[in-house]
Amino acid sequence: MELSQVKEKQIFKEKRSYRKKYYIETYGCQMNVADSELIEAMLENEGYIVSNDPWKSDVIFINTCSIREKAEEKIHSQLGRWDLIKKQKPEILIGVLGCMAQNLKQDLLENRPFVDIVLGPDSYRNLPTLLKRKLKDRNSIVDTKLSRFEVYEGLFPNRRNGINAWISIMRGCDKFCTFCIVPFTRGRERSRSLDSILFEAKQAIKDGFREITLLGQNVNSYNYNQYKFHNLLERVAKIPGVDRIRYTSPHPQDITDDLLQVMSQYDNISNYIHLPLQSGNNRILKRMHRSYTQNDFLVLVEKIRENLPGVGISTDIIVGFPGETEEEFLDTIYVMEKVKFDSAFTFKYSPRLGTKAYEYDDQISENIKKCRLEKIIKLQKEHSLIRNSKLLGTIQTILVEKESKMSKKQWAGRTDSNKWVIFDKGNVNVNDLVKVDIKDAKGISLRGELINEVKAA
Ligand code: 5AD
Ligand code: SF4
Repeated sequence: MELSQVKEKQIFKEKRSYRKKYYIETYGCQMNVADSELIEAMLENEGYIVSNDPWKSDVIFINTCSIREKAEEKIHSQLGRWDLIKKQKPEILIGVLGCMAQNLKQDLLENRPFVDIVLGPDSYRNLPTLLKRKLKDRNSIVDTKLSRFEVYEGLFPNRRNGINAWISIMRGCDKFCTFCIVPFTRGRERSRSLDSILFEAKQAIKDGFREITLLGQNVNSYNYNQYKFHNLLERVAKIPGVDRIRYTSPHPQDITDDLLQVMSQYDNISNYIHLPLQSGNNRILKRMHRSYTQNDFLVLVEKIRENLPGVGISTDIIVGFPGETEEEFLDTIYVMEKVKFDSAFTFKYSPRLGTKAYEYDDQISENIKKCRLEKIIKLQKEHSLIRNSKLLGTIQTILVEKESKMSKKQWAGRTDSNKWVIFDKGNVNVNDLVKVDIKDAKGISLRGELINEVKAA
């Protein structure tokens, strides 16, 4: 290396060491992942650089989730560890962001006095200003005002993962399911402008991303001027270079015929729908404030399967909602048996302070919840196996996403219907779209053999 180059490197290193470092840890849903990417972009605009070690950082953030008690417990224990950092490095700034900040600001201020900044999901835009203010002000700064309007227009994320670009298209939820804290932590529904979403999607493709996931707490209730979700989806599908589009999380109520039609017309829209059931019993569904009956749900599944042959359908199920009898629980099993979901996210009901269901006085014991959960996990395993086996001997188009956790010699990627497939690496790379012959369907993921590369990145 020449002397000038050595000097340049030295200067770069020195400059870097003057710059403030941030560390961010993200819990919860994909919305939080996308929000953390927004926050990273804002911090980097302010001259901060990312660090992967909280001990060596100037500011450390935790982006939090309140959906269930377990999620909050995890964050509380992490904050306990960060208290130790603060004790040894009192100059470090600690920020709690997201749903718990919104929900538990009082508790945090009283019981975690070492927390410097508490910001709700609509307040990240103020972060750079608040950081500057905090440097002069010793008191904790709290900003948890929720907005009725889109607050992140014109602000774009700092993406790291090079395959999938999360694009948040709407925020908040107006559905008020009685078990759910989201309408309180994330506020009212509001949609971003079509133009800004399309701009962001085109930029992501220019930056080398192949897959786009449209995000929202109620993604398919997107509504901007005359544009509905299916209009937006179609416009994204038409962008040259988008190999795969996914969206999450939809509500069964807003799966329209127009949406199914658009999905069936475009090959690059993933043939997959997440369809949260929550419960299969009509009385419980009503008490949950879900807007459909068991029959509505089953008819919808049938319609989806008719319109989208080979579609992958996953779901969310809650067991032990207040007042759920054994018989009512069996209705959930009935729907599972009827539908045979490809996969399911299964939960024990977790009472959330502030929600309507928290007030119900017929809460179910932990033991019964546990027992019901075990039953549906076991049943779902059988159903996933049945569904996965249907792909045996077929050729699937896979977007190569990452190295398999099982072996350095294998890739992992997903089918059009959102199933993970593991296969030997061959001569393809991450980000390639490849054809794989499905050979085995025993575990959660499928195994296959690479046939050929469809399109190079
Ligand atoms: N307890 C258990 N599960 C819940 N979910 C939301 N709130 C709760 C709760 N209080 C589940 C729902 C939802 C998913 C994101 O989390 O199934 O669809
Ligand atoms: Fe929560 Fe229901 Fe809104 Fe989904 S639709 S975020 S479960 S309130």
